[in-house]
Amino acid sequence: MTSTLTFPRDFLFGSATAAYQIEGAVHEDGRGDCIWGPFSATAGKVVEGHTGAVACDHYHRMPEDVALMRSLDLGAYRFSVSWARVCPDGRTVNQQGLDFYSRLVDELLGAGIRPWVTLYHWDLPQALEEQGGWPDRGVVDRFVDYALAVHDRLGDRVRQLTTLNEPWCSAFLGYAAGVHAPGRTEPSAALRAAHHLLLSHGRAVSALRERDPDLELGLTLNFTEMQPQDPDSAADRDAVRRLDGLANRFFVEPITRGAYPQDVIEDLGELWPQDLVRDGDLEEISTPIDVLGVNFYTSTMVTGAEPQDAARAALQARTYDGPSPNVGSEHVVTVRRGLPVSDMGWEIRPAALHELLLRLQRDYTGPAGTRLYVTENGAAMPDVPDADGFVDDQDRIAYLDGHLRAVHAAIEDGADVRGYFVWSLLDNYEWAFGYTKRFGIVRVDYDTQRRTPKASARWYADVAGSGSIG
Ligand code: NOJ
Repeated sequence: MTSTLTFPRDFLFGSATAAYQIEGAVHEDGRGDCIWGPFSATAGKVVEGHTGAVACDHYHRMPEDVALMRSLDLGAYRFSVSWARVCPDGRTVNQQGLDFYSRLVDELLGAGIRPWVTLYHWDLPQALEEQGGWPDRGVVDRFVDYALAVHDRLGDRVRQLTTLNEPWCSAFLGYAAGVHAPGRTEPSAALRAAHHLLLSHGRAVSALRERDPDLELGLTLNFTEMQPQDPDSAADRDAVRRLDGLANRFFVEPITRGAYPQDVIEDLGELWPQDLVRDGDLEEISTPIDVLGVNFYTSTMVTGAEPQDAARAALQARTYDGPSPNVGSEHVVTVRRGLPVSDMGWEIRPAALHELLLRLQRDYTGPAGTRLYVTENGAAMPDVPDADGFVDDQDRIAYLDGHLRAVHAAIEDGADVRGYFVWSLLDNYEWAFGYTKRFGIVRVDYDTQRRTPKASARWYADVAGSGSIG
């Protein structure tokens, strides 16, 4: 917290959430089950057996939550549409489900807040999982139909549409590590899932573009920067190559270059299904996008040494933003550097965001003029509320301040970053960690559903209102 830094005039400051993490109302107005319903009801899958059945009850409190954003001077709101609300059986459109998002969009526009829609944030309709889920190619056309149904209803008012949020998590945590829904542990199926997610993205972007050429389209990927423990060690450098390959390059390269990284395919060996990629798939996947969303939380130091013990290796699979050891990344260990950590145990190194944005600009998005947005950044912290429910979260403010400074530095150094969304507006359902981890700049008391802005919300409101930090 040193000098005052001013962001470009049109820089967008927003907040982000996702449907299953905040909405609740899982059986209202015709909504079908999504994969997180049965998964969270399975013993041992989610901490304390928490589910999203009620969550932040946002479905019923939406106007209050939009008013809250307005009071915080936020210029944009990134939310996701629940596919199972819109297509309860994965196929038939339920207008009542779309009604909710239409009301939300109207409410946002009335408050002067730009809606930023994500079509898929991890909540596949259970009906589609029962037909094979993401590993089955049939899901691709279901997704395109769903994307068009959302656009039919919201496209007159929503101009920013992103297809997927963090396909690495959907594919590898859901189908290989089994720590996210649907909880399968089949590495080859996870690779099929990844390919079909990317193909769904590309095909949906083409279909949307054809209907409405002026939409701003893209997707959001999660990135973890890796450093070798010993830069002079060939084994450590190779560990970085393999993990960066699986976690980052495996997703960004087909999108921006139309090819999976060859070294990763070689590492995967027989896990890689030879019949998976069909002629024309990579052309579809690499259809031009306008924006690349970047979700960033942490960076990791790795070594190529053997895992010390099985428990430690298993734990790595629980790290959302780190690589899954279950897909071709054996014999890699993450090393603690003694940096400060968030309540997730994730090491905090804001400089890694600066490095990442420059790398993306240089190697991936710059050549095509694709704009970058930080679509998620934030931290779970061990919040302690006072008697009024107020949280004086100086640790979260320091995290946000450090990362916003890193974004600013990246812009100064030439990265075309146009906006930043804090994760998250509200404390919410943190997937396999249930309600035990709090990422919000607004506290939610889950007994009363009372919302109380934390110190970080006031701090962020000043940033968004003034367009500067200092
Ligand atoms: C990324 C995901 O998109 C979001 O759903 C999650 O809550 C945050 N990371 C924090 O883990």
